[in-house]
Amino acid sequence: MKNGRATFGSRLSAILVAAGSAVGLGNIWRFPYVAGENGGGAFLLIYIGCILLLGLPVLLAEFAIGRNSRRNSVGAYKSIAEKSKGWSIIGYNSVAASFLILGFYFVVSGWTLEYFITSVTGDIAEYTSSTINAERFDAFMLHPVRPIIYTLIFVLLTHTVIVMGVQKGIERSAKMLMPLLFIILIVLSIRSITLPDGIEGLKFFFRPDFSKVTAGTFLDALGQAFFSLSISLGCMITYASYFKDDTDLRTTALNVTLLDSVVAVLAGTVIFPAVFSAGIAPAAGPSLVFITLPSIFNTMSLGAVWSAIFFLLLVLAALTSTISLHEVLTAYVHEEWHLSRKNAARAATLATALLACVASLSLGIWREYTICGSTLFDALDLLTANIMLPLGGLFTSLFVGWKMNGTVLHDEITNRGKLKFGMYRAFVILLRYVCPLLLLMIFLYNSGLFSL
Ligand code: TRP
Repeated sequence: MKNGRATFGSRLSAILVAAGSAVGLGNIWRFPYVAGENGGGAFLLIYIGCILLLGLPVLLAEFAIGRNSRRNSVGAYKSIAEKSKGWSIIGYNSVAASFLILGFYFVVSGWTLEYFITSVTGDIAEYTSSTINAERFDAFMLHPVRPIIYTLIFVLLTHTVIVMGVQKGIERSAKMLMPLLFIILIVLSIRSITLPDGIEGLKFFFRPDFSKVTAGTFLDALGQAFFSLSISLGCMITYASYFKDDTDLRTTALNVTLLDSVVAVLAGTVIFPAVFSAGIAPAAGPSLVFITLPSIFNTMSLGAVWSAIFFLLLVLAALTSTISLHEVLTAYVHEEWHLSRKNAARAATLATALLACVASLSLGIWREYTICGSTLFDALDLLTANIMLPLGGLFTSLFVGWKMNGTVLHDEITNRGKLKFGMYRAFVILLRYVCPLLLLMIFLYNSGLFSL
């Protein structure tokens, strides 16, 4: 406890908890297909550039805001900005975005759970071709209750961890789930690479095809990097508010970034060799995981077992991320509205469950109702990823680069001068000029106001 606030027990816990937030469906479900569509290895190179040049500084900046203020994401901006209350809009943007992201993230998490159960019962054996799988997936989404039940089970799992508290819930679950996730990922990667023609998939994934690279690729890579690291939207501020005073923010940020990127790359080494081995076109879009992969598992011996392990991986990755998004809401409601932590968690759970149910139905029986041509599910994704995330990142970098007191920032990152931070100047330049400019470009590009 620190000023009546819980803290994570060890330095390793800080890394695992933050990595738990970062590693999610973004790494395993989204990264491989975005890479597949954008020239494989070429995308990977650009992505790594974005992570190092922009992701890492913003992550470190969020850690500094969180630990310095020891408050939720709205309270953090209020306390550091002192009299300039306008900055707390960044915090409100993050709370609103976390709520909206959970609205669609819980739905996809529910699908992963459904596919896990279907694999465990062995019913996945009937998913033998992409056509059949697409029909089944569609029938599942059109079912009036099944997708909702799985979504709600996922909400309940997340809620259970949150009400157990910062140490007994969030920290303990990350310490159990993250190592398991890594083991599963390595086992699956070896299985996939050793399939016949698996090496072809690796070649595709790692060989840079620059002919597919356009200006849009850079913006996709940057957006993916920010989403994958859980930055811009207060998640890492909230988690860092539970870090200990002697946690080294520099190495924690570096480790989290490394783990997150390693997981994304390993996910590619699971998916592409399997896809190539089955002779399927790699750029199959978002349905890659739910439509293409099940039939590939069925061509392997012990297919249902591999399928169960793979979907368990997705469930674990999704869960540690939904926990972090939920904690943004819970910490905010608890500290700013002065409700007990339990009641704050209940309010957040109720609100997100409701939104997620409607988002799920918007892909099923309510699919004819759209908002500006997209379903509610897609609208939530587009609004958060294309508008709220780049704007959040833009103002977070401006806040730390220009508004936050330089001495306070430097003291926070060096643990009051105990650690060295030779890159401090570069860090500030990136936050002041480079990040805001690029994030502004992403925002304008994504909102259609600017095209390349
Ligand atoms: N990073 C997670 C993923 O890759 C998703 C996530 C969790 C997130 N918390 C976030 C994204 C905060 C943006 C902001 O799946």
